[in-house]
Amino acid sequence: MHTSIICGMRATVAASILVGVVAAASEETTLRQAARSRFLIGAAVGSRGIAKAETAGLLSREFDSLTAENEFKPQSVQPSRGMFRFAEADKIAAFAEARGMKLVGHTLCWHSQSPSWMFRGDDGKPLPREEALRNLEAHIKAVAGHFRGKVVGWDVVNEAISDRPDEYLRDTPALRAIGEDYILKAFEFARAADPEAELYYNDYGNESPKKLEKTIRLIRSLKAGGAKVDAVGIQGHFRLDAADTPERLDRAIAAYAKEGVKVVISELDVDVLPRGTTGANVGDRERSGADPYTKGLPAEVAAKQAKYYARIFEVVLRHPGVVTRVTFWGTHDGASWLNMWPVFRRTNHPLLWDRSFEPKPAYRSVIEVLNRR
Ligand code: XIL
Repeated sequence: MHTSIICGMRATVAASILVGVVAAASEETTLRQAARSRFLIGAAVGSRGIAKAETAGLLSREFDSLTAENEFKPQSVQPSRGMFRFAEADKIAAFAEARGMKLVGHTLCWHSQSPSWMFRGDDGKPLPREEALRNLEAHIKAVAGHFRGKVVGWDVVNEAISDRPDEYLRDTPALRAIGEDYILKAFEFARAADPEAELYYNDYGNESPKKLEKTIRLIRSLKAGGAKVDAVGIQGHFRLDAADTPERLDRAIAAYAKEGVKVVISELDVDVLPRGTTGANVGDRERSGADPYTKGLPAEVAAKQAKYYARIFEVVLRHPGVVTRVTFWGTHDGASWLNMWPVFRRTNHPLLWDRSFEPKPAYRSVIEVLNRR
């Protein structure tokens, strides 16, 4: 009798301690705490952004990973042959290092924001294969070498897959000069330059069936060629009016996991404005478009966006150990690229903080989902 009372008390004490632990877990109040080491939480930022106190504060408090929005791109680090400019990129690397944030390199090979000399002659025609390969190798060796030990991983190749139903790879200067194996070569050069870094293939729209299929084809061919591919980057430039995206994302993550690669959501945002172009091809600009929320995001749209973000993170949590990072493409709404693309100068609201750095309903709903499990 005596013993059982004690046992009973012990059980109660144990239960209340357990409840305490559970309660503590559900009270995490920043993104990175709420993620509880299940995956990294990142943001993209520019060198001007980190110089602003409010942005710097937000990054340090909420995130444990950083991607440079433009500063690591080929055009930024090697604008002309052999002229390397790392000053702006180094500022971002130093910011991340000082705060113990994991730095992601974006990107070594891309058709956009890349200097034309790399794969084309003065006449605009493709360079001979060997010369183009030498340029690609020299670029990757220098850039990945420069950041060796500083980055956790590289978007080795960005957006190489075609959006056209009848085409596998995108028609790019690198493809024309080198051929289909430019992607494999880029992965080989990256591995040689920084053997410790994770290597990613990054693209937009690759949660949708058509691109998913082509991406799997690419991963298989890279692996067959002996490449190390650690993860597929799903950019995650989502649109509030594309309601089936979370389900597609769920299926795509499962499909990539089956191929033996991890997944990172590398550039997450949820566009609330109407647009014509469906993907996130930076070349697809539109001359005009409605700009309905210049005075702020109506409460019902903010609530809809909050639900959308919740669904995305519910999907992420369904794949523990597969999704290793979720990176937002920007910090607060005022700093989003979607204010400039696809229509120049609109007032978009795609992120978790508004223009005054106030957390939006979407922020609270993400925290709530992360605390739930
Ligand atoms: C964007 C930047 O955010 C802009 O500042 C820049 O003008 C254009 O590029 N997919 C990518 C990113 O992989 O590099 C793009 O970043 C957004 C789409």
